[in-house]
Amino acid sequence: MKKKVVGIILSLTMVATMVAGCGNKTEETSAPDTTEEPTEAEDTTGGEDAEAPEATEAEGEEAPAGNADLADKKVGVCIYQFSDNFMTLFRTELQNYLVSLGFSADNITISDGANDQATQTGQIDNFITQGVDVLIINPVNSSSAETITDKVVAADIPLVYINREPDEDEQKRWADGGWNVTYVGCDARQSGTFQGELIGDLGLDTIDKNGNGKIDYIMVEGDPENIDAQYRTEFSVKALEDAGFEVNCLTDQVGNWAQDQAQQIVANALGQYGNDVEVVFCNNDAMALGALQAIDAAGRKVGEDIYLVGVDALSEALENVLNGTMTGTVFNDHFSQSHSAADAAVNYLTGAGNEHYIGCDYVKVTKDNAQEILDMVQ
Ligand code: GAL
Repeated sequence: MKKKVVGIILSLTMVATMVAGCGNKTEETSAPDTTEEPTEAEDTTGGEDAEAPEATEAEGEEAPAGNADLADKKVGVCIYQFSDNFMTLFRTELQNYLVSLGFSADNITISDGANDQATQTGQIDNFITQGVDVLIINPVNSSSAETITDKVVAADIPLVYINREPDEDEQKRWADGGWNVTYVGCDARQSGTFQGELIGDLGLDTIDKNGNGKIDYIMVEGDPENIDAQYRTEFSVKALEDAGFEVNCLTDQVGNWAQDQAQQIVANALGQYGNDVEVVFCNNDAMALGALQAIDAAGRKVGEDIYLVGVDALSEALENVLNGTMTGTVFNDHFSQSHSAADAAVNYLTGAGNEHYIGCDYVKVTKDNAQEILDMVQ
């Protein structure tokens, strides 16, 4: 008898914890595991053994933009973590595009922050000491932007932030100070809204397998410090609510953008909630690929008894959308973002300057346009 009561209390506590998880996330693992390590880009870490680029001289009069000028300019690029699939596409395209603009590959140094802000801060310090002409930074922690901006501005180096958007107060400082600092990225609210619409467009009759009148979902989040993760989580659900659906969050867990962490989270959730899981929202495609492994292992079928969406439009995810094993994804346009970032760097170098925010659009991807996007990204 006693045992039974304890059992009930335990399961109630578990349910309460999981439901609470839909509002307040608990991070289970801090550092995402690495998947692969592709890089054609230079991966000088900026450590002591990094080749120190010569400081440029004779820049008294800014010459107008021209390829000959760019060939001598030194670009420092900081990526939060090389093993991130999406940021690998981004940095590869960035490197290629910078070279196509006339920068010399030898003058572009790309460093791996290894998901550690202290490591990245050391790399930024090295770039400053080396006297790079412009910095492009994908911060490990957006909340470190103020410190980063201060040291880069003090060194009189123009700065282009990418991918992890610093908050409004920080962006206001750039405008108020008239500093050569900008952010290039897409509005993550749009990607979340598209994810919600991908699901909502299916209609309640299709999704509501357990017949409770609600869309029962699990949410797998990226790095919770990242505004992309926060907005995608919020706006995917908001889009469903705005369309008049009743939603029920079964669990909301942090997968840190990583496939293996998402696989584990979704496997656990499917074990716990079984057929009640109707929708799996993943803040990115890497995690959606992990979710799909768990869905397959549980014998569930996307498009028949469960629905799955991601963001990024990785090739593998696009192939899944085409063959029906993912409901949809959202194209996170790394071409547009990397090109805009490089163009912004050039605008600073030529003295043309930039707005303090440079946006781009996401694209909703279904079976109808997945091939088109795949042709573009391959
Ligand atoms: C997001 C992207 C994720 C991850 C993250 C890194 O925009 O969707 O896959 O790369 O950036 O900050």
